[in-house]
Amino acid sequence: DKKINIAIDGPAAAGKSTISKRVAERLGYIYIDTGAMYRAVTLLYIEKGKDIIDSLEDVEITFKREDGNRVLLNGRDVTEEIRSESVTSKVSEVSSFEAVRSYLVSMQQKLGLDKGVVMDGRDIGTTVLPDAELKVFMQASPKVRAERRLAEERARGSSIDLEQLTAQIIKRDELDMNREISPLVKAEDAVLLDTTDMTIAEVEDFILEIAQNKI
Ligand code: C5P
Repeated sequence: DKKINIAIDGPAAAGKSTISKRVAERLGYIYIDTGAMYRAVTLLYIEKGKDIIDSLEDVEITFKREDGNRVLLNGRDVTEEIRSESVTSKVSEVSSFEAVRSYLVSMQQKLGLDKGVVMDGRDIGTTVLPDAELKVFMQASPKVRAERRLAEERARGSSIDLEQLTAQIIKRDELDMNREISPLVKAEDAVLLDTTDMTIAEVEDFILEIAQNKI
């Protein structure tokens, strides 16, 4: 079988990672969460200050497939920490720096070289993997996105409420859509998928069907 690359982009909390993980699993592909990479750099930025931007070549971000996709920052497991409130509220700013983007984009492009990758983020279809065989731009109403995210936040013990969450999501989208370098935008050749009224299984099947036709 021929392997393809699948790019999944869209605004915050649209369900990209949930779907990407499942699609990758079904196809036997590798899932790459590029948001986690930006979050890891942001965590380091918070801990060490802005000078880390000048020495990104010393920053190693790896994924450990065992124990459910762990994220390692210079060998340290930061899977939980990168979802914290402080990282979430700073990540769009750190992601707008040119040095951060060029470093992570080249890392991501290397991961996509052998095909067989499902990568989710904001600029995968436009910048990271412009030749991906399948590109999906996932949308959902802000209300539904906030509700879905609330369930996740509750599950990991956070007490953030729906109103705060909605404001946070809208703010992050705004920053991501309006930054200068590779802003969040649908690639011209991406399939637009509004998941507001769809179940996870429906979204998964929809994407798998298009993917199967290209494999
Ligand atoms: O996907 P997630 O919501 O975890 O991404 C966190 C943040 O990382 C986004 O809000 C965005 O600022 C940044 N990001 C990005 N480009 C990507 C993936 C994420 O700028 N490809």
